[in-house]
Amino acid sequence: PDNGLARTPPMGWNSWNKFAGRVDDAAVRGMADAMVSSGMSKAGYVYINIDDTWELGRDANGNVTTNKKFPDMKALADYVHSKGLKIGIYSSPGPKTCAGYEGSFGHEVQDAKTYASWGIDYLKYDLCSGLDIYKDDAPTLQAIYQKMGQALQETNRPIIYSLCEYGRASVWTGWGTKSGGNLWRTTGDISDRWDSMDKIGFSQIKIAEYAKPGHWNDPDMLEIGNGGMTADEYRTHMSLWSLLAAPLIAGNDLRTMTDETKSILMNSEVIAIDQDPEYKPVVSVSSENKVEVLMRPLHDGSVIVGLFNRNDALTDAQFARSILPANLTGKKTKVRDLWKHEDVKMEGDTFKATIPSHGVVLLKISSR
Ligand code: GLA
Repeated sequence: PDNGLARTPPMGWNSWNKFAGRVDDAAVRGMADAMVSSGMSKAGYVYINIDDTWELGRDANGNVTTNKKFPDMKALADYVHSKGLKIGIYSSPGPKTCAGYEGSFGHEVQDAKTYASWGIDYLKYDLCSGLDIYKDDAPTLQAIYQKMGQALQETNRPIIYSLCEYGRASVWTGWGTKSGGNLWRTTGDISDRWDSMDKIGFSQIKIAEYAKPGHWNDPDMLEIGNGGMTADEYRTHMSLWSLLAAPLIAGNDLRTMTDETKSILMNSEVIAIDQDPEYKPVVSVSSENKVEVLMRPLHDGSVIVGLFNRNDALTDAQFARSILPANLTGKKTKVRDLWKHEDVKMEGDTFKATIPSHGVVLLKISSR
């Protein structure tokens, strides 16, 4: 059954991309503080998620225990909640997590109860060693994910359920939803490089139609602010993830963000695309010479058009007014550039722009 959560894609922060195993109680508290003081929480980010490496093992009763980086998970959850935020944790259906820590195999119900007793609001459940012991097919994967999905729901605590099995067995086609998942990874791991983000991001358009409120495709967490891409590339990352209605889970150090990073992660006009209350999938209008024109209708009758330049050089791009839905093909339209934060003009019936390498022009077109 549907747990009723994540009517729009989840927004928050996760420790893995920046910190991997170096995450601890102090870092998580610092991130919660920074999420509020930076304005991220006002922009809609709410979950502070601990990824892999927090477990120690099990006590005599089989209860999962935390290692010395996390001396008191309940106290940490209380702290995060005191900031008006929510907290997430991580485990695996296999005996070990991907980094070799304690998984939930054979302790699913017990672990769900433990998470609820700590006040956990979000679980990322990562296949990892489950791949060695379970059959790698849709019925088996559905069953093991559903086991935890049901255990979480039986706690009666609202806990977002994030499936991480790298898109195996076409999780988006239905069994991800049936297992109780609110989001599911659709690809292997992202890294903080253009080729990784580009390859993952543009591969997702064809499955956008499978997402729906409560059940989202997850092309992995954001790398914005981690330093491996240019500002144009990070604007492409944010634009594309928002057009895809991907979860917006920041993966950088929120305590030390530059103004540029903040302007990308907190662009409210772009976040509004991601969080549109009536999900309609993005479509590809054209894909020529490594220039992608994508379009997504929003609930208010406006449309978003994104022109993406995947070339290593400055490239001209354009689209014709005739691609727009009927309500917007007349001359009385307003065209707003969501990164320049200003209204721009269409020349006659064509919009033209020269786009920097790996950059984007993101437009909102509405009737006047
Ligand atoms: C897998 C996941 C990553 C991260 C690591 C942690 O690779 O896909 O997102 O959770 O495990 O070990």
